[in-house]
Amino acid sequence: MDSILVKGGAELSGEIPIAGAKNTCLKLMCASLLSEDPLTLTNVPRLSDVRTLTTLLQSLGCEVAFAQNGGVMMISAADLTSHEAHYDIVRKMRASFNVLGPLMGRDGRAVVSLPGGCAIGARKVDFHIAGLEAMGAKVDLKDGYVHASAPQGLRGAEIEFPFASVGATENVMCAAVRAKGTTVIKNAAREPDTVALADCLIAMGADIEGAGSSEMVIRGVDALRGATHPVITDRIELGTYMIAPAIAGGEVELLGGERHLVASLADKLEGIGVEVTQTNRGLKVARKNGRVAAVDVTTAPFPGFPTDLQAQMMSLLCTADGVSHLEETIFENRFMHAPELIRMGADITVSGGTATVRGVERMRGAPVMATDLRASVSLILAGLAAEGETLVSRVYHLDRGYERLEEKLSNVGALVERVAA
Ligand code: UD1
Repeated sequence: MDSILVKGGAELSGEIPIAGAKNTCLKLMCASLLSEDPLTLTNVPRLSDVRTLTTLLQSLGCEVAFAQNGGVMMISAADLTSHEAHYDIVRKMRASFNVLGPLMGRDGRAVVSLPGGCAIGARKVDFHIAGLEAMGAKVDLKDGYVHASAPQGLRGAEIEFPFASVGATENVMCAAVRAKGTTVIKNAAREPDTVALADCLIAMGADIEGAGSSEMVIRGVDALRGATHPVITDRIELGTYMIAPAIAGGEVELLGGERHLVASLADKLEGIGVEVTQTNRGLKVARKNGRVAAVDVTTAPFPGFPTDLQAQMMSLLCTADGVSHLEETIFENRFMHAPELIRMGADITVSGGTATVRGVERMRGAPVMATDLRASVSLILAGLAAEGETLVSRVYHLDRGYERLEEKLSNVGALVERVAA
């Protein structure tokens, strides 16, 4: 298993191109199942999660081809040979569960492995199932699999989620686009990835109103056609690289970055002494003098502060001047990076869903272990400002969501290299 070695202390300067969004790309790939015509995606990120979902789509009978060194992907779901998503693939990546809605929307049948919990929490799928049941599907849970069927087809329904779940909104939206009648989703997720999925479905002929607001109206159509659609900029990769110069010092321009995707983070950074400027090429982020100030952060659904940037923000606040509180409201167990940061000299106390971070002047490099995707990158960020060397092991988590991370950081002057096992 590869590791990443970070030598701390280098200021950053230069440009980083931001890739297409992992979480958008995966959902657009699932949406390809809704049409017999091919879907072509551009700005596809080169990530192991994209490869995992490619394998799953192929196992269902899709033909998948790549062009432009993986940046363009063509998926043809003309002839499905299976409606069963196996545990072996779904367990590797929860987003695989999002083939359920498209399979139900297209053919009214699907067998999909339950994804199970994962390191950051229980991550249930009860809202997904209740949504499909409201649309007339019969759903049984057997041997770790969801067996869903609607032999007469799905019908529109009014569905109100108890929590604005991203995955459940997207699964139900995909099921509803080819259902009979109108579906109304209340308390829908408003994440840019969800809006991007709606935009792609609309380009394929779906009738969807209200994406980006908490109430969506979806009028079912008989069939969807093929389309060519771009993957939007990855706001989590963007936010991660905004935090890099805030931690290490210097100035970096993040190409393709748009402030509205990361406004909650940009506001926080500006409040603690980091400059964030929208240019015509992207977002320029600079920290020129002194330590950042402490600040309190609470994660929330979009447009609130993203849970997927909480670990990276904690790394930054470890060296802030003062005491910060980070409250995690989306997942129940998402502070696994805290003990690793403590090994690097951070002063953090976790109590329930809140972490109290007392800023220290300097962190120290140490061997640390990545526990999940965003935790891994938070340790690399912490290493950028730490004294000495930080060796982050188990970086396969990182390869799920960050394309060429060591190259992108090295290009702006960070001392980061991959150490092959
Ligand atoms: C997606 C993102 C993930 C991000 C998260 C929150 C993808 C591939 N992943 O995950 O990176 O961190 O949104 O922004 O897009 N819940 C239930 N029952 C359900 C569904 C969800 O109780 O049926 C709970 C979950 O356990 C969690 C909360 O709702 O505590 C939010 O989950 P959700 O918004 O569904 O996240 P995901 O779609 O899994």
